[in-house]
Amino acid sequence: MSAASRPSRLTANRIRAMKGGTPIVCLTAYTTPIAKILDEHCDLLLVGDSVGMVLYGMESTIPVTLDMMIAHGKAVMRGSKRACVVVDMPYGSYQESKEQAYRNAVRILQETGCDAVKLEGGEEMAETISFLSARGVPVLAHIGLMPQQVHTTGYRSVGHTEAETAKIRRDATAIGGSGAFAIVLEGTVESVAREVTDVLQIPTIGIGASAACDGQILVSDDMLGLFSEFTPRFVKRYDELGRRVERAVAAYASDVRVRLFPGEEHTFKRREHARKTYGSATDAPSLATIES
Ligand code: KIV
Repeated sequence: MSAASRPSRLTANRIRAMKGGTPIVCLTAYTTPIAKILDEHCDLLLVGDSVGMVLYGMESTIPVTLDMMIAHGKAVMRGSKRACVVVDMPYGSYQESKEQAYRNAVRILQETGCDAVKLEGGEEMAETISFLSARGVPVLAHIGLMPQQVHTTGYRSVGHTEAETAKIRRDATAIGGSGAFAIVLEGTVESVAREVTDVLQIPTIGIGASAACDGQILVSDDMLGLFSEFTPRFVKRYDELGRRVERAVAAYASDVRVRLFPGEEHTFKRREHARKTYGSATDAPSLATIES
């Protein structure tokens, strides 16, 4: 079924059931207008903590707060009707204990109305994911390259060595049995991504993890050419919106400077007859009513 002909919002369970079928289409969204555009084309919208880097100019996702994620989660929910909306749990909001994770996941679900949360981590987070899943919180897991671990591992693809491969296998096995409804596999070499996808009963959603995965996700601003601080190798740019915005802004600036904008068609004119009809200022309608 195409995204556009889907009758109602996709749930986490329906995403899980897409394992092995038509690839699952996912993108990040942080705002209402972008969510409105993406919604009918995507199965899943992720309110990623990448919002910190993409919209706020932060150098990593580490400074992103729970309040920021909730505000952007609400914005995306206002723009979305069909896609399964997942909100990222930011760094420090779930690692301390499973109780902390549950408390903050509940805040996200209750305050945004989203369908599920995402958190990073393999073996070490499996118990937390089981705790959340058993209490009604659908969890999208995230292994491979984990941006919240930038201070210990850096941003680099994984699965190149036997040790890295063994770690991904352990993480995938632990998460596969934890109750997560799907798993994001980031920056992982193709052979390992394929093996994990073949072995797991839940869908893998790849970002820089090859076409072997059950679905794909990209940061929207990357694939639209809006965020150009750096472009990872795994990003395909489908447009150059940044350049287009620059051209439009340059045209606006030049029009303003030579008084080409605003033109007659953008200018309100007083309708003299409306003033004449109403004798005094007090019984006249507001300017907004009589001007067009
Ligand atoms: O925060 C994010 O946007 C993500 C995706 C890159 C998967 O976690």
